[in-house]
Amino acid sequence: MNKNALIKKAKKVLENNWTGLYTKPSPKSYPHQWSWDSGFIAIGYSHYDREKAMTEISSLFKGQWKNGMLPHIVYHKPFIDYFPNAEDWNIGISKDSPEDIPTSGVTQPPIVATAIWNLYINSEKREDSLKFVRSIFPKLINYHRFLYNFRDIEGKGLIANIHPWETSIDNSPKWDTILNNIKIENSKIAYVKRKDLKYVSHEERPSDQAYTKFIYLMKLFKQYKYNQEKICKVSPFLVYDVLFNSILYKANLDLLNIAKLINEETNEIENWINKSRSAFEDILWCDEDSMYHSYNVLQNEIIRVHTASCALPLFASIPDKDKALNIKKYLLTVCPFGEENICVAIPTYDKARTGFSPSNYWRGPIWVNINWMIYKGLLNYGFEDLARKIGLNIIRLIKEIGFWEYFYPTEMRGLGINNFSWTAALLIDILNGDIDYEKTFNIQSHL
Ligand code: GLC
Repeated sequence: MNKNALIKKAKKVLENNWTGLYTKPSPKSYPHQWSWDSGFIAIGYSHYDREKAMTEISSLFKGQWKNGMLPHIVYHKPFIDYFPNAEDWNIGISKDSPEDIPTSGVTQPPIVATAIWNLYINSEKREDSLKFVRSIFPKLINYHRFLYNFRDIEGKGLIANIHPWETSIDNSPKWDTILNNIKIENSKIAYVKRKDLKYVSHEERPSDQAYTKFIYLMKLFKQYKYNQEKICKVSPFLVYDVLFNSILYKANLDLLNIAKLINEETNEIENWINKSRSAFEDILWCDEDSMYHSYNVLQNEIIRVHTASCALPLFASIPDKDKALNIKKYLLTVCPFGEENICVAIPTYDKARTGFSPSNYWRGPIWVNINWMIYKGLLNYGFEDLARKIGLNIIRLIKEIGFWEYFYPTEMRGLGINNFSWTAALLIDILNGDIDYEKTFNIQSHL
C-alpha cells in the first residue's frame, strides 16, 4: 500500500467516527466527546479539513465550565451503553457547571492549545484561520487559568490531578500504590455494573479493584459538589503527573505563540512557563534514575515507576541536552529494536518491571498518542534516528494490522477497539512529516 492509500484509509476511519459535531474516539465503546482525543483528532484534520478541526474544537468548548475547566467528557447526546453517564456525574449540583450541556466533572491533559496552533500552522491560507484563533483564545486562556487558579495547589507551577481519569492513563502502574492505599469501608458505595467489558476482554481493561477506586473518587467529588478547593483538600489521589504537566508545558508554549500572533498580553503565560520549568527540575527530576517521574503530593515523594510518560518532557523541550540524552538511553533499553525480543515501539511500561502486562491497557501495550509525543520529542533534540525508527514502526504496525486503540508491544497484534480515531489522526500527522515512507516500504508513490 502506498502512502496516499494509507492516508485515505486513515481519513475513512475518521469519517466513519464523525458525528457532525465531533469525532467519537471509536465506533464502539466510546460514543461521547473526549477532550484529549479531540485535540489529537483535530491535529489530524488540520492537514486536510480545517472546517472539521474547527468544529471539533468548538464542540469541545461547548462543555467548558464557568470556572474555566474543560471537562474530560462532553455528553452531546445520551447513550445508554456507556458508564459513567451524564446522570452519574450529575454536574448540575455545581454552581460552576455549564447550564445547557452535560459533561463529566474532571479534566484531561490539555493538548487543545497545541491542536489550535497546529490548525493554524497547517492551514493552507493561514489568514483564514486567524478569525477562529482569535475567537477561541479567551476560552483557551481561561482553561489554562483554571488549571493555575485551582490546581497549582502549592503555587509551585505544577498542576495537581485529582483522579486517574484526569491523567488519562488511568490504570498505569504508577498509580498502583496510591490506589491500593485508598480504603473504602463500604464497597457497595463504589459498586457499578461495568459497561466497558462489553466489547473488550477483561484482560485488556483495568481491574475491578482499580475501577472501584475510580468510581469511589467520582462519587466523592460529587459529594463536594465539584468544589475545587474542597476536593483538593479531601481527595486521597493528588498527584503532579509528568504526562499531564509535560503536555501543559508544551500547550503553554503554543498558547504563547498564539498570543503573540494575535497581539495579546503574554506576561501571564511566560510566568507559567518559567515557574513550571524550574519545578520540573526541582520536583520531578530524579537524579538516581536520570529521568523525570510523577509526584505523590500527599506523601511528598516522587513515584519511581518507569513508564513511558517519564520521557514526555522531551515533547515539551524541557530537559537540557544531557538530560535528554539520558532519557534517550532509557528509551533504547525499554525498546531495543533488536533482533530478539523486539518491541515494536515504546511500550507504556518497562517490560522488565513487575506488574508489566503486554495486553492490559496502560500497563504495557503500545499506544500511538504516547509514541507520537515521544517521536516529536526526539525530533526536538535532533535524535532523528530513533525518532524515525519509532515513526516508521508505528506506520508499519497500522499498515499491517489496522487502526487499533492499543497494540501488543512485542508482536503484531491489535488490542482494545479497532478503527480508533487518534490512531488514524496521528498517523496522518506522521505521514505528512518528513518520513521516508516510500524508501522504507519500497513502494512507488502513485494514486
Ligand atoms: C480511555 C482512555 C483515555 C481516552 C478515552 C477515550 O478512557 O484511558 O485516555 O481519552 O478512553 O478514548
